[in-house]
Amino acid sequence: MSSILLVTSSPRGSESLSNAIATELAEKFAGETGTLVRRDLVETQLDHVDGAFTTAIRKPADARTAEEAASVATSDALVAELMAADTIVIGTGLINFNIYSSLKSWIDHIARAGLTFSYTENGPVGLAKGKKAYLVLAAGGIYSSGPGAPMNHAEPYLKTVLGFLGIELVETVYVEGVAYGPEAAEKAVASAKAKVEELARAA
Ligand SMILES: Cc1cc2nc3c(=O)[nH]c(=O)nc-3n(C[C@H](O)[C@H](O)[C@H](O)COP(=O)(O)O)c2cc1C
Repeated sequence: MSSILLVTSSPRGSESLSNAIATELAEKFAGETGTLVRRDLVETQLDHVDGAFTTAIRKPADARTAEEAASVATSDALVAELMAADTIVIGTGLINFNIYSSLKSWIDHIARAGLTFSYTENGPVGLAKGKKAYLVLAAGGIYSSGPGAPMNHAEPYLKTVLGFLGIELVETVYVEGVAYGPEAAEKAVASAKAKVEELARAA
C-alpha cells in the first residue's frame, strides 16, 4: 500500500496553482487504498532555525536542555512523517527565483544529521533512501527551459537537497507562464493536469 506525503507551501489558499495541482497529483497517487498525509506549511507555521535548534541537533537527545528539546520536537515529528512516506509530492510557487520560505523552513527541519542523512568516512550519505519525490512548481514566467532556466533556483535546489537525503526527484510538473494573461494561465493549468494524468497512469 502506498504512503504519500503531500507538502504544500503557498499562502494563496484556493487561488494557489501549486496547491491545487500538487493535491490532485497526491490524491491520484494515493488512489482508494493508499494513505495520504497532508502537511500544509501555511497551517503549520514553522519557526526559523534558531540558536536552541542549532545547538540541540548536535547533541544526543538525552543531553538536551528542556528548551533545546522543545526546539527540535516539531522537527522530530516532521522527520518521522517524511520517513513514513514512500512518495513525497511537494508544491511551491517560484518566489523570487526560489521556493516559498515556508518550504525552505520545512527543509531546514527535515534535513537532520543522524536522522535523514549521515556523515561517514566516505562523505555524506542520505538515510531517506527508496523514496520518490515529485515537485509541482507554479511560476509567473517560463523557467523549465529557454532563457529563464538559469534563473530557476527552485528545481535545482530541491533536487540537490532531496538527493542529499537519498530521495530521488523523479519529475517536476510545471504550471508556468501564468502571468502572461488568462489564456496563458489556462493553458498552463491544462498542460499541468495532463502531466498529472500521465504520471498517475505511470505510477
Ligand atoms: C512574492 C512573490 C514573488 C514572486 N517571484 C516570482 C519570480 O521570481 N518569478 C516568477 O516567474 N514568478 C514569481 N512570482 C509569481 C508566482 O510564481 C506565481 O504567482 C505562482 O502562481 C505562485 O504559486 P502559487 O499559485 O502556488 O501560490 C512571485 C509571486 C510572489 C507573490
